[in-house]
Amino acid sequence: MLGRIIAIDGHASTGKSSLAKSLSYEFNCIHINSGSMYRAIALHIINNNLIKYIESDTNYLMSKLDGISLEFKEVGTKLKLFLNGKDIEKDLNSLVVSNEVSNIAAIPEIRSKLVKLQREIDRSKGIIMDGRDIGSVVFPDADLKLFLTASIEVRAERRYDELIKKGANVTLSDVINNIEDRDKKDSNRKTSPLIIDNDAILIDNTNKTISEQLQLIKEIVQSRFYN
Ligand code: C5P
Repeated sequence: MLGRIIAIDGHASTGKSSLAKSLSYEFNCIHINSGSMYRAIALHIINNNLIKYIESDTNYLMSKLDGISLEFKEVGTKLKLFLNGKDIEKDLNSLVVSNEVSNIAAIPEIRSKLVKLQREIDRSKGIIMDGRDIGSVVFPDADLKLFLTASIEVRAERRYDELIKKGANVTLSDVINNIEDRDKKDSNRKTSPLIIDNDAILIDNTNKTISEQLQLIKEIVQSRFYN
């Protein structure tokens, strides 16, 4: 994997990050969850009462984001995201953040700020990055592009179980509404919409376990990189 890039894009809650994380252990490379960067910006905007400026004054909003620091730091064997020096990972997947993040991710200035950071990450060990525009915009020359999808029922149940395990107070219909809303916004925004790139391999994991997906991707990597 040295120096190589695998882009994993796809619909909301298709397990991109869990898959990318397992693959990064397998291939001994870095995993970056780009969604966590958009979520961190959303969290900052929510916590600082800046939501009202998303539509009314993007320039002011961007000026408020100018000084923030967003960095991945190695903690043990993991890369964790820090916002202004603080570990914010546990707050990123709440429904409050999920309900705002796609509006924030549609702002072109925010996208270019984050795409720049994503491209600056050291890729010498190899990178697996997951998100919505990784194969189409961030790394159009990626060595392998995958696009994950699954039925809405299966995606919602997986995300609901995850949130309930973390003690969140949500209903299955809250989760379905959020997933459908994000897919719609992510696919229809003007800047870098979610698309299936021509050279991406489409994987529908509705009926696939994580180990079946891992096996499939290991075979694809083997034949693409090493044959
Ligand atoms: O990957 P995750 O579901 O955590 O991403 C949260 C949201 O961040 C997405 O619904 C999308 O609005 C935005 N996102 C994006 N581009 C990326 C990654 C995430 O627009 N590369």
